[in-house]
Amino acid sequence: MRLTRRYHFAASHRLNTDALSPQENARLYGKCNNPYGHGHDYLLDITVEGTPDASGQIVNREALDWIVQAQVLERVDHRNLNVDVPALAGCVATTENLAFAVESMLHERWTLPARLARVRISETARNTFELETK
Ligand code: NI
Repeated sequence: MRLTRRYHFAASHRLNTDALSPQENARLYGKCNNPYGHGHDYLLDITVEGTPDASGQIVNREALDWIVQAQVLERVDHRNLNVDVPALAGCVATTENLAFAVESMLHERWTLPARLARVRISETARNTFELETK
């Protein structure tokens, strides 16, 4: 059985790689390469998978909230993803890479009996990224 719990955070980013010239970055990333960045109101859906215990629940929701808050939201909310998030160091601050960073931040302190099954991040109403986690 799976439970998906939804969280929100706001953050800014700029898509840019040092591996390319300014002109190549502008061509590749378009307006997402604008020098001073831009922000998003991200939706973060965390899915856990397990079997209900004696309490009838697959996960204690307060415990899940605590881990997501401590490991992810405190590190990304109202931050600049390019400079404030060590898990993204050396990566282009795409939402694809952010999903991998969220997975690794959660796995650092995952103490819940249920398995982390999926990280899903909506960057805009049109773009949602899903990572099935191992
Ligand atoms: Ni963006």
